[in-house]
Amino acid sequence: MPRSRSAALPRSALPAVCRARASPRAAALALRQRFGSRFRPIVAKRGLRFGSYRMGTNVDGQASPLALKSKKRKQADRKGISRANGIASCLFKYWRQRYSLFSRYDAGIKMDNEGWFSVTPEAIASSHAAHAASSSAAVVIDCFAGVGGNAIQFAAWGFLVIAVEIDPRKVYYAVNNARVYGVKDRIEFVVGDFFSLAPFLKGDVVFLSPPWGGPSYSRIQTFTLDMLKPKDGYLIFQAAQKISPNIIMFLPRNVDLRQVEELSWLSCPPLALKIEENYMETSLKGITAYFGDIALVPSKSSLSKTDIS
Ligand SMILES: C[S@@+](CC[C@H](N)C(=O)[O-])C[C@H]1O[C@@H](n2cnc3c(N)ncnc32)[C@H](O)[C@@H]1O
Repeated sequence: MPRSRSAALPRSALPAVCRARASPRAAALALRQRFGSRFRPIVAKRGLRFGSYRMGTNVDGQASPLALKSKKRKQADRKGISRANGIASCLFKYWRQRYSLFSRYDAGIKMDNEGWFSVTPEAIASSHAAHAASSSAAVVIDCFAGVGGNAIQFAAWGFLVIAVEIDPRKVYYAVNNARVYGVKDRIEFVVGDFFSLAPFLKGDVVFLSPPWGGPSYSRIQTFTLDMLKPKDGYLIFQAAQKISPNIIMFLPRNVDLRQVEELSWLSCPPLALKIEENYMETSLKGITAYFGDIALVPSKSSLSKTDIS
């Protein structure tokens, strides 16, 4: 097969246009030097087809017309899809992950805005329940139940669940979602404040997934337990201990692990502790801390790396 001329020549002998792919900015400058002002209209018209086109900028570092057009089209698509699905466009990224939040999303799952960013992804909720199912526990208290992500998975793994949630609207959605998963009969929903109810609740395992304060938690370098809502993590933990020493706590990935350890040794007697990192594909979504006897059962989940402390 004949070799092309450009392949036979040393790179330095090629005209700037042919060398463009290797170094777009250098080539753009070379073209400018060679053709002077004639170069710019070509760039503007053709949207800079090599190198810098991929970066979406022209030789002056401004967004190329093509890149701008595609950005606008994506924004319009996003708005259109959000409107069609009745969700705020700022929640679009969560909507795209809807099947990892609820695999039966299309069967009629309902959520409010906060639900979108606070529900535990289904595979992680299932791994919490699988872990608890390795113990002899039968009743789980889900103290911050939200729209039901965790409560549904505990029920699906055979537990009787008491799901406490302060917001009646979320309870309405959680009941609907539990019906979608066919586990409504295994969950008792209670609308109320966990801290007032805690002294009256009885269960084998206490599950805590308190609010992390919205999506901005991920921008903090170290998430300390006092950032949890609606109260400091130490107070939440104390309230849970009134029910059972077997506590599962789902926390942000950037949580201060020394503080999590403190929770176990500040207890009297100190509680066993197992800490897991929870991944979805390669992305770290959160940290789960198991306290008490439930920390001693072997973990089954492939979504978790254990004992990172
Ligand atoms: C992170 S979300 C729980 C998400 C849930 N695990 C799921 O997968 O759907 C925390 C929930 O705690 C609720 N909450 C806040 N303060 C509460 C309180 N004092 N008592 C009970 N629930 C509360 C919020 O309304 C919110 O729905």
